[in-house]
Amino acid sequence: MLKRCRALLFTLLSLGVFEPVIAAEMVDAEQLFKQKCALCHAIDKKKLGPAVNAMSRDVESLRETLMKGKNAMPGFADKLTGAEIDALVDYLIKKMGGVD
Ligand code: HEC
Repeated sequence: MLKRCRALLFTLLSLGVFEPVIAAEMVDAEQLFKQKCALCHAIDKKKLGPAVNAMSRDVESLRETLMKGKNAMPGFADKLTGAEIDALVDYLIKKMGGVD
């Protein structure tokens, strides 16, 4: 039984099933946030944009705002990779204290 599990894990690993997770972890979201977002956003207070912990917790809406922008918020679709956007969305949600 244990042997079968190990074989399955090995197969999954060699198929690259876990690669997206590893790629997302390699992006330093905290650093990205400091470089690209901290100008207008703080975690717990309003600056030019809303505080992170007052933001929507909906992953799709966060991703959409990040890609396309919203009013005074610039879009980042051409400035960040998909993995960076995903990592930032994860980071924001973590800073809000998790998904509802
Ligand atoms: C030039 C200033 C500026 C920068 C830089 C900026 N934002 Fe914003 N952001 C804003 C403003 C202003 C709003 C409010 C837009 C509105 O609703 O009118 C906003 C809104 C948002 C929202 C939507 C909040 C909600 O509740 O839906 C998210 C998410 C967001 N910003 C994330 C980011 C992230 C992540 C970055 C860095 C990649 C970033 N912003 C960089 C100004 C900025």
